[in-house]
Amino acid sequence: MWIGADYYPEQWPKERWPLDAELMARAGFRVVRLAEFAWARMEPEEGRFTFDWLDEALEVLGRHGIQAVLGTPTATPPAWLVQAHPEILPVDEDGVRVGFGGRRHYCPNSPEYLRHVERIVEAMAHRYGQHPGVMAWQIDNELGGHRTACFCDTCRSAFQEWLRERYGSLDALNEAWGTAFWSQAYTSWQQIPLPGRTVAVHNPSLRLDHARFVSDAYARFLRRQVAILRRGAPHHRITTNFMGLFEDLDYFSLAGPLDFVSWDNYPGFRPAPGEASGAAVALSADLMRSLRHRRFWVMEQQAGPTGWDGLIDPAPRPGQLRLWTWQAVAHGAEAVLYFRWRTATKGAEQFWHGILDHHGRPGRRYEEIRGTAEELGLLPGWLEQAVPRTPVAILMSYDDRWAWRIQPQNAGLTFEARLLSWYRAMWRRGVGVGIVRAGDRLPLGPGSGAPAEGFRIVVVPSLMSLTPEGASRIEGFARSGGVVIVGPRTGIKDQANAVYPLPPPGPLAGVCGVTVEEYDSFPVGKRIPVRLQLPRPDLEEGAPAGPVLQGTGAVWCDVLAPQGARAVGWYTADHLAGRPAVTVHPVGRGAVVYVGTLLDPQLQEAIVDWALERAGVETPLSAPDSQAAVLASDVEAVLWDGPGGRSALFLLNHGAQAATAHLRGRWVDAFTRAPAGPGVTLDPYGVTVLEKAPGDPSPGVS
Ligand code: GAL
Ligand code: ZN
Repeated sequence: MWIGADYYPEQWPKERWPLDAELMARAGFRVVRLAEFAWARMEPEEGRFTFDWLDEALEVLGRHGIQAVLGTPTATPPAWLVQAHPEILPVDEDGVRVGFGGRRHYCPNSPEYLRHVERIVEAMAHRYGQHPGVMAWQIDNELGGHRTACFCDTCRSAFQEWLRERYGSLDALNEAWGTAFWSQAYTSWQQIPLPGRTVAVHNPSLRLDHARFVSDAYARFLRRQVAILRRGAPHHRITTNFMGLFEDLDYFSLAGPLDFVSWDNYPGFRPAPGEASGAAVALSADLMRSLRHRRFWVMEQQAGPTGWDGLIDPAPRPGQLRLWTWQAVAHGAEAVLYFRWRTATKGAEQFWHGILDHHGRPGRRYEEIRGTAEELGLLPGWLEQAVPRTPVAILMSYDDRWAWRIQPQNAGLTFEARLLSWYRAMWRRGVGVGIVRAGDRLPLGPGSGAPAEGFRIVVVPSLMSLTPEGASRIEGFARSGGVVIVGPRTGIKDQANAVYPLPPPGPLAGVCGVTVEEYDSFPVGKRIPVRLQLPRPDLEEGAPAGPVLQGTGAVWCDVLAPQGARAVGWYTADHLAGRPAVTVHPVGRGAVVYVGTLLDPQLQEAIVDWALERAGVETPLSAPDSQAAVLASDVEAVLWDGPGGRSALFLLNHGAQAATAHLRGRWVDAFTRAPAGPGVTLDPYGVTVLEKAPGDPSPGVS
């Protein structure tokens, strides 16, 4: 486990550096990230490199046993470069060139910029590629942040070239995009626009391809730097810092050439009102782990009150910094670096607080982080060989997220409604989730750690863009015995973002045993009553079904025509009264549930409970007294499996009140070895790590 900070020696007098390093070492820090915005300090004018200050900083840190991750500074092209080559600045959708003054002010396709990027990265690799104080590299900083797409002429030609490669011929493009609509047939590649300012709206097929093109441009930008660093720093590991659920770049592709994934985590930045739970952070972390099926780093972890653009968010409460660190570890972090070491007194981020306040004296936050680093050092060693148990896969694709962004269809069909709500239901039960790229293999298995181990449940959360191959992977999973849950609007779009000339769910209709006869998009706030009666999990014909549950649907209503599936939920009012809303289809040894509306949390969770039971997934938390108690709980439980049948359970209380978790099985405290459970009470923002008591077989998935 590596603990550390993001450090900006260039922003402080060097007389202060030894004290910083000493305080870091005293807090157990062994790593810092340096230099990712320091281009002007490293190269004050073209070709004149001034690395002496960085050499010295590395030396001071090295004396205290602290290693460095070096950032390439390409998120901040210096003023002299912009002055000499204003064409490297990005252009916005209105065709206006954006000015110097912030950061990330570059066009990722600009040949002139790429030339300078290569120069500075080569110079850094040359200087530090063999440096004993350097352990890894971070490329750029938060690729795609602030402003992703550029609308300059270079980007326009690059887009046309990208399309030519993708489609081969204009006929193929015209056909795929349906340019017969509004007389948009292209007779030359040069006619094709970027989706900038126009009258009315752009073709959704053009927009989706443009989103892919933009993501590819950053992937190329990243790969160029990787190639230079591989040559110049062959023994160092390479990463870039992602932004969790950020959707503009296809992180599955970008992660490919990296040695490890890292990301920036600010749980308290502009918190949603009433959002005490850590589900969204947990999902981000699970996505980061799933990109490469390996441990990840948190390259920036919130260390104080966030404050962007002059507004300051609430301060982390006592215990929260520790909680967030443990949450990262529970989801697979092998390093946590706090952003930033000391709060800046100058510059745009004066109110984005670090571990130390502006005055630089250690305070409450420093002490909490120091204590956390100490505890982390005491974690049982076998956990390094352990993996989180993930019996559930949730499918995701960036193509699909972009298609949703282009056509949201209903303001209520948010990412939260489509995907996060399913994730949260698993999260509340302590059921681990892996995020799988739609179309990838979906083996059935016990569901531990990596896809190679398989899954027991697959959630297909309103996956609008679905290929026939993707659909057949889902079908194969169900046939071999898996449980599949499918949300509304799945399977309606092809890869060109055209609507399939088929009733939804298109290529998935056969495996769902259902087609959508008609659908309705509801105004915000309107709800429709729904009656749900799930069958016995074994789907025995004629066996008595489960209890009748009354609830509601909202936002979207598919009216289902079962074709082999059984209706198990019905709308009960308006013109939809009596029409099916939810179905279950036995497929091979598995079962597929189609959910045609956005159910209220109680009904949605009833479906999740049914799926868990059907799939034989045991949760580490024992059956709560009531479903309401599950819904109200802020306790997160994360289960890991290790060698020799060992298991660990992380319990994290995200709430401001003490809370009790009720456990299945027998456990001991991982630090004190004292017996724990069945009830474990956690302080506000409290954390407990347990190990399965020797000889206890439960909870297990057999
Ligand atoms: C991150 C970024 C950092 C810093 C931080 C606080 O997104 O990578 O450089 O800006 O936010 O605003
Ligand atoms: Zn451009």
